[in-house]
Amino acid sequence: MSELSKGLAGIVAGQTAVAIIDESETGGGLQYRGYRLGELAEKSTFEEVAYLLIYGALPTLSQLKEYKKKLLSLRSLPEVLIEVLQKIPADTHPMDVLRTGCSMLGCLEPEGKGRDGVAVADRLTACFGPMLLTWYLYAHGKRKLPQADAEDTVAGAFLYQLQGKAPRERQRQAMDVSLILYAEHEFNASTFTARTVTSTLADFYSAVTAGIGALRGPLHGGANEAAMELIERFPNPEMAEEGILQMLAKKEKIMGFGHRVYKHSDPRSDVIKSWAAKLAVNDPKGQKMMAVAERIDAVMKREKKLFTNLDFYSAVSYHLCGIPTPLFTPIFVMARISGWAAHILEQRADNRLIRPMSEYIGEKVRSVLPIEKR
Ligand code: COA
Repeated sequence: MSELSKGLAGIVAGQTAVAIIDESETGGGLQYRGYRLGELAEKSTFEEVAYLLIYGALPTLSQLKEYKKKLLSLRSLPEVLIEVLQKIPADTHPMDVLRTGCSMLGCLEPEGKGRDGVAVADRLTACFGPMLLTWYLYAHGKRKLPQADAEDTVAGAFLYQLQGKAPRERQRQAMDVSLILYAEHEFNASTFTARTVTSTLADFYSAVTAGIGALRGPLHGGANEAAMELIERFPNPEMAEEGILQMLAKKEKIMGFGHRVYKHSDPRSDVIKSWAAKLAVNDPKGQKMMAVAERIDAVMKREKKLFTNLDFYSAVSYHLCGIPTPLFTPIFVMARISGWAAHILEQRADNRLIRPMSEYIGEKVRSVLPIEKR
């Protein structure tokens, strides 16, 4: 097998109108349905972006109002699901909780009987946050999920329900931008997984559940948690530099750096870095964390010519929003559901079973020896 195709690197595995990563000088970088991501992060909200991805166009004012109203009405969970979530052990990884919750919701509210793919997409967009926090608050203190009806956005409701009070405006905005940045990224591993499952004509929940499984690993979504653990390990920039050099000498991977598709930089990283810096203003602990992160960033550029991907400064940003580290990757799910949904719907609209071939490297044909002669 050629090096090029290991891990399907450089292989075009299908067509999409959902997103493009165009690193060429005139290309416009990452775009969702033709809109530059930087512009979306500056001028729109996560709900507008989710609507764009799932419904195909940016909403008008009245469409956005209706959509937000609908998402608000879809937040609450069926009692049976709450019971299941409360039975999940406290030391479970939160990604396993979402995988289980998504699958259970598929049993309680299956597709069909008047519930189509778009309806399931809206339901999951609205309730992944409450699903995660129902478990988290119960498992860590037997607290019930607070109502957050005054918060009409996914970002605001999540922070309100986590903290039990209205978040600072800057935190709400940083969270909203982060959801936009994480919403979509063409044929990444979890999206391709969801499309593959969809291509068998399986249901929407199966595709999303499989996507959550693919996202969980540290080479994909799990990198933001690993990046936080790394940054927190060092009390100051000098020790960070020393530690990273030691890790590189041992050929260890530094989480939050590098990318399969981007070769020069990840455009999403600059956006979230600026929000991490804003959150750290007037916060001595935050300033210290930024200094450590920036030193790691500089050492990686100098030593390996590697750049931060979205996960690195997202970790700092989430930490400064008061979010516990194990919840970082599940937040990725809360955002990426919109991208997965867009791809599932696109795959369904022009489906053909995804079934590639393999290059066989095993034994030549041979006979089965009788068991006593093996
Ligand atoms: N730290 C240290 N070295 C790294 C690295 C990292 N984060 N990312 C890549 N490299 C090095 C590899 O060791 C390898 O070096 P070698 O050629 O001397 O063996 C080279 O760069 C190519 O790496 P490879 O893992 O083969 O590239 P890939 O395209 O298969 O992987 C990632 C892309 C994202 C999986 C990879 O960069 C990585 O593991 N990053 C850390 C995890 C992460 O942040 N994931 C989130 C992605 S958004």
